Amino acid sequence: KYNAGITGIGISLPNNVLTNKDLENMVETSDEWIVTRTGIKERRIADKDTAASDISSEAAKKAIEMANIDSKDVDLIIVATVTPDMMYPSTAAIVQNNIGAINAAAFDVSAGCTGFIYAVTIAKQFIETGFYRNIVVIGCDILSRVTDFTDRNTCVLFGDGCGAVVISRTEEDGIIGEFIMANGAGGNFLTLPAGGSRMPSSFETVEKRLHYTSMNGPEVFKFAVKAMPEAAIKLLEKYNLNLSDIDYLIPHQANIRIIESAAKRLGISMDKVGITLDRYGNMSSASIPVTLYDSFIRSEIKQGDNILLVGFGAGLTYGAVLIKW
Ligand code: ACO
Repeated sequence: KYNAGITGIGISLPNNVLTNKDLENMVETSDEWIVTRTGIKERRIADKDTAASDISSEAAKKAIEMANIDSKDVDLIIVATVTPDMMYPSTAAIVQNNIGAINAAAFDVSAGCTGFIYAVTIAKQFIETGFYRNIVVIGCDILSRVTDFTDRNTCVLFGDGCGAVVISRTEEDGIIGEFIMANGAGGNFLTLPAGGSRMPSSFETVEKRLHYTSMNGPEVFKFAVKAMPEAAIKLLEKYNLNLSDIDYLIPHQANIRIIESAAKRLGISMDKVGITLDRYGNMSSASIPVTLYDSFIRSEIKQGDNILLVGFGAGLTYGAVLIKW
């Protein structure tokens, strides 16, 4: 078995900031409600000409530069997203062309907000078997494109962004363990109903606003507070590790109350938890890599730390990855 590790990381965030105050002018809500119920203060919104592959390519280039490899050395590109440029070709294939990774295979992964965890898990297997040496894993979502800005139940939650990592064959083991799982029975709690083979686009689906995210917030909340600790504990059990082996937690950034509950259940104090949702909202599959980058830049994590990445999302899916920084 070969070792896999993160050798580069990069992000791309739109410049345009949408604050809670701005939302007060769009729907019946208040800064106070949004902050106390979610912890979110502002989020980034991509301009109308920017698609997922644009910010994915930018983040990937930065990660490749940090990894000190050439884009021709990349063997595989995986993009975790629920907001691809289009149904097909995959966003990963568009990125492959954009960054000149002419020797790379490319595909997308659809696992909602757990997408980045799923994609890292896939990359780990390809490196460990010796099949590939360098893989670019991208978590990218432009949720504003599928958000109904007349629906206060959802529009206050989401933001746009992207984070990318290079996962390479390394001397030391940098991705210690992984656990991924799905609970398809809960799939209806979080959907984007129209535009697929079940309900193709039509005037009617547009009129009924079925091309937007539809969410049962309280049900997703209930799932999340159980799923994140469960993923963490299943991972630790699988690798014979303890909670005391975790130095830092990077959870999916959906709601501060969900994060606090998960941290409490895992006995991790909040000063050991990466938080970006106050500034960026819920960026779906981008939340975890962007928060990892943020914690790295702020020197909250240091070399040798065991960092647990843990998430949940549409599917319903959940999972965790333990990395050594
Ligand atoms: N502003 C003001 N009031 C609001 C708003 C708003 N933006 N949104 C809802 N309310 C109202 C509701 O209408 C409700 O009013 P009512 O009692 O008169 O019916 C009241 O506030 C309370 O609503 P609840 O849904 O009970 O509020 P809750 O405390 O559950 O918070 C929230 C709602 C924030 C959505 C929470 O359930 C949550 O975070 N759920 C998880 C969502 C999540 O994680 N989604 C991301 C999944 S991943 C992905 O989508 C890609």
